[in-house]
Amino acid sequence: MLLEGIIFGLFTFLVTARCETAEVLVEAGSQVVLPCKCSFRLCNPAAIIWNKNNKGTVWRKQRSGLQYWGSSWSQKDNQRVQCPHSQFDRGDYSLQISGVTEEDGGLYTCRIEYGNHVAVNQVMLRIIKVWASPSDAIWGNKVSVSCTLTPWPKEASVQWMLNDKMFVPSTGVITNGVGSVVIERATERMTGNWTCVLNHKNERRASATLTVRGIIQPPKDDTKLYAALGSAFALPCVFSPGLRPIKTVWEKLENENPRTLKNDRPSLITAGNSFRIQEVVLDSQGKYRCAGTIRGQRLTRTMQLVVAQIVQTKKKDSVMLTCQVSDASAVTEYEWVRVTYDLNGTESVEPVQKGQTVVLNNNWGEWTCRYNGKDGILGNVTYQVPMMSGHSGQKSGFSSNKGTVIGLSFLLVILLLILAQMYKNHQRRKRIFQYPALETIVHTISNEREERERNRGKD
Ligand SMILES: *[C@@H]1O[C@H](CO)[C@@H](O)[C@H](O)[C@H]1NC(C)=O
Ligand SMILES: *[C@@H]1O[C@H](CO)[C@@H](O)[C@H](O)[C@H]1NC(C)=O
Repeated sequence: MLLEGIIFGLFTFLVTARCETAEVLVEAGSQVVLPCKCSFRLCNPAAIIWNKNNKGTVWRKQRSGLQYWGSSWSQKDNQRVQCPHSQFDRGDYSLQISGVTEEDGGLYTCRIEYGNHVAVNQVMLRIIKVWASPSDAIWGNKVSVSCTLTPWPKEASVQWMLNDKMFVPSTGVITNGVGSVVIERATERMTGNWTCVLNHKNERRASATLTVRGIIQPPKDDTKLYAALGSAFALPCVFSPGLRPIKTVWEKLENENPRTLKNDRPSLITAGNSFRIQEVVLDSQGKYRCAGTIRGQRLTRTMQLVVAQIVQTKKKDSVMLTCQVSDASAVTEYEWVRVTYDLNGTESVEPVQKGQTVVLNNNWGEWTCRYNGKDGILGNVTYQVPMMSGHSGQKSGFSSNKGTVIGLSFLLVILLLILAQMYKNHQRRKRIFQYPALETIVHTISNEREERERNRGKD
């Protein structure tokens, strides 16, 4: 009767215990306590056996106090796995495991024998592991972020968050028997904290960090860069800190045909891999590409240089300035600013006028056109309007100049006419001596005259 009672009691206890299998979820590498408490009032000395499914006895203690480690847990593991004596008096035989690995995951059983009583506790230990491979990726290379729960429960599900925002992968998540893997080509936007949100009875989160390195400036392909005509400009190509590209090549993409920019002037490519344009001309506009090789991976960045200039058009009694940007697709607004300097050379900026053009009546000086995009100032270009003594004065100056020019031209014409006349006369005289017959006639005439006079003398 008593034995029957004990067996019945034991049976019910076992059933109850099995129904209440504790679930313990921990991240790999952390410390875990697998609970096992004796529910009887006085439980010491008791015989304890900790077992793990498929891995045999972990640790056992006899009533006498002798302790044994299971063959697959001995030595190296008895530092990692402990059942502290200090707790025995309180009937606490919980197992402590530090530095848990995925292999530690599984079903554990703690069996307590005290007197005629037997109690069995079950603990399911599941290990969460989140990691990125590689954790330090190069832009464009394949990278994977994995989340596993070992053992994997059938009803569990995984969602991903990147930097606290829901992450919807473009290539899809592979959910296999042990967890979830995101495999993508590394881009800057994948840098950050990856959180695996596990839903299994309760929600559990675990994170890993991923660093993607590459070209950080300009931040993305086809970035528009704005330069003022005539200014010096450096096209940037900045790599993540610690990355040293083997060789940086700059190309200009003309009609999609890349032309390598001259490398014969090494000063044009600076230490920071930027390409220096000494003076921006209208032809400088267009697409550029910088490329560098890191760990066998070629990284490239394209960018578009936009040239801004101020064009001056003279009107009857005013000057019109037009702000021209070679690609104004991102420009939402133009502002004009007049920059003045006081005697101390302190720059001050005068009130702003909006619009692409500005008409000046007598406002010489330095004018700056700022062009803005939806996110603020894109750039500016400055123009020096020459000093004028007033438009009317300038106009009369113009006409008096014209008078002088006309007068001078008139004098020149007269001078030419005189010269021409003198030349004609000279030619005529010359022509007379050109005819010897005429000379003979003249000569004969004078001879005849002489003879006649001589004859007259003889008479
Ligand atoms: C120039 O600087 C001096 C001293 O720094 C100051 O007293 C003076 O007011 C300044 N003049 C102008 C026009 O700002
Ligand atoms: C024009 O741009 C340069 C460089 O960004 C800046 O230093 C300067 O203050 C700007 N000038 C005006 C008038 O906005």
